Amino acid sequence: MKKYKIAVLPGDGIGPEVIAQAIKVLHSAADAFHFELELSEALIGAVAIDQTGNPLPEDTITKCRNADAVLLGAVGHPKYDNDPHAPVRPEQGLLKIRKTLGLFANIRPVSTYPILYDKSPIKTERIQGVDFVVFRELTGGIYFGKKGKSEDGKSAYDTSEYSVDEIDRIARLAFDAALKRRKKLCLVDKANVLETSRLWRATVDLIAREPKYAEIEYSSMFVDNAAMQLIQWPSQFDVILTENMFGDIITDEASVIPGSMGLLPSASVGSNVALFEPIHGSYPQAAGKNIANPMATILSVAMMLEHLNENEAAKSIRVAVDQALEQWYVTEDISKQFAKSTSEVGDWICAKIKELKASA
Ligand code: IPM
Ligand code: MG
Repeated sequence: MKKYKIAVLPGDGIGPEVIAQAIKVLHSAADAFHFELELSEALIGAVAIDQTGNPLPEDTITKCRNADAVLLGAVGHPKYDNDPHAPVRPEQGLLKIRKTLGLFANIRPVSTYPILYDKSPIKTERIQGVDFVVFRELTGGIYFGKKGKSEDGKSAYDTSEYSVDEIDRIARLAFDAALKRRKKLCLVDKANVLETSRLWRATVDLIAREPKYAEIEYSSMFVDNAAMQLIQWPSQFDVILTENMFGDIITDEASVIPGSMGLLPSASVGSNVALFEPIHGSYPQAAGKNIANPMATILSVAMMLEHLNENEAAKSIRVAVDQALEQWYVTEDISKQFAKSTSEVGDWICAKIKELKASA
């Protein structure tokens, strides 16, 4: 039997609750599809600061490096958010794990569910058939460039830097993904203003001309326009390729399209171990209340299993989540009227996976 080592980083806020459901689902999938799991839990974020003073302890890095995949809940705590003088922050743990594990591509799929059309703040006719994926560069740009403050504290700077190699490696992943999808790729940048964007454009233009990508309908769009088009006409997009900060912003924007942020998973990949996490944050107001939507984390497990080539198991998780939605077996972010708890939704999905397997 195949055995996968998974490092589990529950993190802060609702992280531990949604992770608990995702782990239950992972175990159900392992039972149904005959693979074994070796899980090791580790600290990240505010809980790690509280217990060790470090948002990403060495032990966590070791466990992640030794794993086949990493599953992460959420990072962030309000006590750090509004304190510009905090010496360490939970988010540093997240940025450091991305950098340390070389997770240069963050993959965030966005699709809509007919059952949720009414929940979306955008008109139904605009979101029907939306199905795109954002490839966000994750270890470069302004997040990781030189930054600092003047001695008198009256000015500060952050710099954005990209190399051709950094652009090339994620662009190829995005083009390869487009080949398996609707064969459209849109590069989002600010090439009318930024030198780094002009380097992105020149580099990606060249890749687009390679014969193996001849079938891809390639375009580019300035990020301000893209921000608008994402709301006005989101179904035009298939694969969006973009740099770190633009990707951060447009994926939050895109997350409102389906009607709940609690549904969107993500994968962060590099040349070694990959990491999977919901795109929502730690939602501190809901922590400990058993009300958070576990579906984004459960769908992150599906992405993880696809990455590990356990495609049937992944498929069964996706079908179970779809059915939970169709039958309104959902948390309160989706329906106040029918609201089930975080753990009830997790249990339902586990039972459905078993049932699907038994009837297959
Ligand atoms: C995300 C988050 C992080 C980011 C924060 C928490 C550092 O917003 O994963 O999108 O900006 O990358
Ligand atoms: Mg973000």
